[in-house]
Amino acid sequence: MTQAEFVVVANRLPVDRVVGAEGDDGWRRSPGGLVTALEPVMRSSEGAWVGWAGKPDLELEPFEFDGTFLVPVRLSAQDVEQYYEGMSNDTFWPLYHDVIAAPRYRRVWWDAYVRVNRRFAEAAADVAAEGATVWVQDYQLQLVPKMLRELRPDLVIGYFHHIPFPAHGLYSQLPWRRQVLEGLLGADVIGFQRVADAGNFARTVRRQLRYQTKASGISVPLADGSYRNAVAKAFPISIDTESYVELARRPEVQQRAREIREGLGNPKRILLGVDRLDYTKGIRHRLKAFGELLQDGRLTVEDVTLVQVASPSRERVESYMQLRDEIELTVGRINGDFDTTDHTAIRYLHQAYPKEEMVALFLAADVMLVTALRDGMNLVAKEYVATRTDNRGVLVLSEFAGAADELPSALLINPHDIDGMKDQIIRAIEMPPAEQGRRMRSLRKKVIESDVVQWSRSFLAALEAAKHRHATAGGD
Ligand code: G6P
Repeated sequence: MTQAEFVVVANRLPVDRVVGAEGDDGWRRSPGGLVTALEPVMRSSEGAWVGWAGKPDLELEPFEFDGTFLVPVRLSAQDVEQYYEGMSNDTFWPLYHDVIAAPRYRRVWWDAYVRVNRRFAEAAADVAAEGATVWVQDYQLQLVPKMLRELRPDLVIGYFHHIPFPAHGLYSQLPWRRQVLEGLLGADVIGFQRVADAGNFARTVRRQLRYQTKASGISVPLADGSYRNAVAKAFPISIDTESYVELARRPEVQQRAREIREGLGNPKRILLGVDRLDYTKGIRHRLKAFGELLQDGRLTVEDVTLVQVASPSRERVESYMQLRDEIELTVGRINGDFDTTDHTAIRYLHQAYPKEEMVALFLAADVMLVTALRDGMNLVAKEYVATRTDNRGVLVLSEFAGAADELPSALLINPHDIDGMKDQIIRAIEMPPAEQGRRMRSLRKKVIESDVVQWSRSFLAALEAAKHRHATAGGD
């Protein structure tokens, strides 16, 4: 098997299966910033990517795709149910997002999580060259760093947590709280989205494990009585900014934006929400605020339309099914009460769209609504800003999204405060062009200077520094 100098381990492989017209299967690179950011590193370092192909029971041999060696990890239907839908998305996901939905603690799910994490760790151990760098991604794989270190002490191991890390008081509900912390601390560098997440993690490590921490350093005790230093700090993720700018400048995309506006009956203002259909995104709160504004007569459907794209997600998990029912009931009620034959209040789209169409939607939107109750980063906020090369449009952004730390020139809101959110929506709708321009220029500056390539570089530089510490400790 190939021996790779750089290995990414993620729940999903960076490709999607496509079925051709003649039933012939192939692969297409998945859209997404992480894949784009790592592509140059992958090519230059003979990289490998360990992950799941997204369907149960697929038995696939490792294969080369677009300069990357892909190592598929097989998940049975039961693994998908217990490790992915259960432990990852019905326990960790709600627990780490401030218990917006109730996490379920089931021992069979935990057993599956341990079993599947071991499978990922073993696959990574097999493909990594001597002294290679391995970068583990996200909450589905929190035990992999420690398992991998035990299998391969020569490796340099990084872990990035894409979602929030909760306050100690919440985290301590987890029946397996020590095992998960120890799992993460197998990494040399543990990256978080916000400074607050790294702080929550360090505090939890002190309280649960009694390890010493100093600034971003954590002393992890070893069996021989010595210590290993792990680093836990914030590396806020970003997007592939240039590709959004490029699409936004294409005449056909701009034309499509005009068509979208016309298709909605040329309202004075278009409001836009773009989310995975997830209870963390605050879609219900947003609909409540918008519905009340129509009810109060502060907005009319002739003047304003809300376009809500809610892409299907984790559809077999009960809390997601419930949320979908609630949202669709609410949308139906609001539209039933306020639509006219020519205008709709909410254009609801339970679909996923290609990037070109998303950029056209961003260009058509006068106001972008990001009302998450809790979100690791929220890349949609950054995507909207990146596309607005005209320095127009207003971003309404929840202070509970990681992006709020970096984008203070947005109109920040507390989505739990419905009256406050309503006032900010009206302010966004009425904002004079000069103020839009001032705010948007400052937002764009941030998204242009901190893109996803810069993000991966700074994380990998921190890992490189850890590698030097390894080498010094090893005496070679
Ligand atoms: C979040 C997580 C990712 C995950 C994505 C889509 O952004 O941080 O790890 O891949 O949601 O969710 P899914 O369950 O479809 O992979």
